[in-house]
Amino acid sequence: MTTEHLKSKFAEHFGTETEQIQVFFSPGRVNLIGEHIDYNGGMVLPVAINLGTYGIVAQRNDRKVRLMSLNFEEMGVLEFSLDQIAYDAKMDWANYPMGVFHTLQNEGFAITRGFDILFYGDLPNGAGLSSSASIEVLTATILNQYEAFGIAPEKIALLCQKSENQFNGVNCGIMDQFSIANGMAEHAVLLNCDTLDYEHVPATLGKYRIVIVNTNKKRGLVDSAYNQRRKECEVALEMINEADGGHQYNTLCDLTPSAFLGFTEVMPDNVYKRAYHAITENDRTLQSKRALSAGDLIAFGECMYSSHESLKHQFEVSCFELDTVVEISRGQRGVIGARMTGAGFGGCAIALVHEAHVDEYKAVMAKLYQEKTGLQASIYIAQISGGTARVE
Ligand code: GLA
Repeated sequence: MTTEHLKSKFAEHFGTETEQIQVFFSPGRVNLIGEHIDYNGGMVLPVAINLGTYGIVAQRNDRKVRLMSLNFEEMGVLEFSLDQIAYDAKMDWANYPMGVFHTLQNEGFAITRGFDILFYGDLPNGAGLSSSASIEVLTATILNQYEAFGIAPEKIALLCQKSENQFNGVNCGIMDQFSIANGMAEHAVLLNCDTLDYEHVPATLGKYRIVIVNTNKKRGLVDSAYNQRRKECEVALEMINEADGGHQYNTLCDLTPSAFLGFTEVMPDNVYKRAYHAITENDRTLQSKRALSAGDLIAFGECMYSSHESLKHQFEVSCFELDTVVEISRGQRGVIGARMTGAGFGGCAIALVHEAHVDEYKAVMAKLYQEKTGLQASIYIAQISGGTARVE
């Protein structure tokens, strides 16, 4: 959909003069590697992508906020007042932007006037590409810009994470909001989730493309499985610190794989497996960063495959559909790495595919995936994009 089309949709639903309208875009994200370790103080390597959420905006002269999403057009225009914001199940998707209004006001950022905002996302919802972080950071960026709050992107990410944790009750880490707020074209964001120090690493993929395969197997992030994994990681850290006596670790990813070997006896099998994944995944992120800097894409692809194996066998957040995509990818010409991305339990996998073989890859994937799972995959080529910004 072009921005002209979005603007005319805005005028149709809100009746505002089109010259007052501003257009913002907020990317989704693909995590190249470093999965399920943002809440374990680990290093992650996500990229912002060209699929995301548009926000078509006009500020109002009263304290009313009216929101509409073209992805949920049947729900119509949803309305609330800046003076009375509380989670409301009936508001459905709108609870994400509403949470951001609420959190900013709670943190002392006074919003002076209401808004009309039309949203449109070309990012599949609930598919592990962070559609919720995309709309949160979009909303915060709009408020930041119109109200001239001067909030830095790092802080925007933290406010949006807080909003999702507290307003929406989803216990996510910082990776999604951070990479969306701080994305850079052609670069990955190497983020230390413990200190929030970060670096833009050139994602020099040469003739390789990041292909996203959406399994179209639905999953809920609010699912207890995500929170249960977090809990198991906390238990692992407590057990390590109890057994250690001397050195106290702040996060699981403070341990190196060899330091962790000393603790293998002190925890039950499931807890051990979660910790083993987190600690080795952190190491794989660092290896991947080195491989990318050295232009060694084959080594990077190997890290992607081993990350997937670990998420499947140790962290146990993969599923038949994601494993099927990775298996089909492995067998294809021009593919050097593949793994699930995001929280897992469904959603998307990514593969690094040589540009000469992308068309063949898509055709074979579509056919074999359907044969093996009975589901239709959606396949996208991701471009690495900048962070959330005003585009018009
Ligand atoms: C979701 C969460 C992130 C992160 C990933 C797994 O996307 O929102 O914080 O934990 O899962 O790496």
